[in-house]
Amino acid sequence: MAPDTILQVTNLVKDFNGIRAVNDVSFTLPTNTITAVIGPNGAGKTTLYNLISGQLSPTFGSIKLKGKEIAGLPPDKIVKAGIGRSFQITSVFPSLTVLQNIRAAVISRMGRQFDLWQGVEWDSLEDNSPANPLQQAIHKTLALVGIEHLATNIVSTLSHGDQALVEMAIVLALEPHLILLDEPTAGMSREETRHMVELIRHVQQQTGCTFLITEHDMEVVFQLAEKIVVMHQGAILATGNHEEIRNNISVRRAYLGTDD
Ligand SMILES: Nc1ncnc2c1ncn2[C@@H]1O[C@H](COP(=O)(O)OP(=O)(O)OP(=O)(O)O)[C@@H](O)[C@H]1O
Ligand SMILES: [Mg+2]
Repeated sequence: MAPDTILQVTNLVKDFNGIRAVNDVSFTLPTNTITAVIGPNGAGKTTLYNLISGQLSPTFGSIKLKGKEIAGLPPDKIVKAGIGRSFQITSVFPSLTVLQNIRAAVISRMGRQFDLWQGVEWDSLEDNSPANPLQQAIHKTLALVGIEHLATNIVSTLSHGDQALVEMAIVLALEPHLILLDEPTAGMSREETRHMVELIRHVQQQTGCTFLITEHDMEVVFQLAEKIVVMHQGAILATGNHEEIRNNISVRRAYLGTDD
């Protein structure tokens, strides 16, 4: 595996009672890049994510994160290995404030890093001084996502767009190396979508995280992704940059049913 490859997926297969939802999928993700997985409804994108993040075990195939096999590991082990995922692994507590949610995520990461609390000073959790590493990590995360002004708001009272920012902050609080976003702009207004695109780019530049996103909005895909993987009926139909994907006849057929 090339040293700049963070994820290597090889011959991945997932069958559900006779349906091959993911069919012999192989691709690599270069470190510190944004890649998009696109494809018509039912192409297998979410199933692919569920395999990478451990919600599902593959029928066959390999998934290597920084050279280590992770296929079939449970979700918590995969989070620990450095893969963050919005919308499913993360648990947002809607009746708590933004700050309380981020705090819980940071504490969970610290607990993990300090080998289940060995070395964590419990008293320090009650220490609200700015010099406390917990407070610093919370504020760093809020600042990275630009939601300091929402810190004391109850999550359930926020707009859909702002709740998505909180989810992103929770994922980032876990300090992943690879972030999977499944349709990060689904249900968003144009303005919220524009903001999310800028945020993903900003976070990638600031943290050096690698992103894998699925998206139906092609404008977002072309704005963000250097590399695009097209899935169709469980298999990879094409991989390339914007131009290559735009001009690919098979991709046009899969989406539009025509060559035009
Ligand atoms: N748990 C499951 N049991 C049985 N079949 C499933 C299951 N999950 C997904 N499938 C099937 O696998 C195929 C791929 O579905 P998947 O949700 O991965 O597609 P997708 O590309 O994410 O689609 P969309 O763009 O609509 O989100 C579909 O035929 C779907 O019906
Ligand atoms: Mg899906």
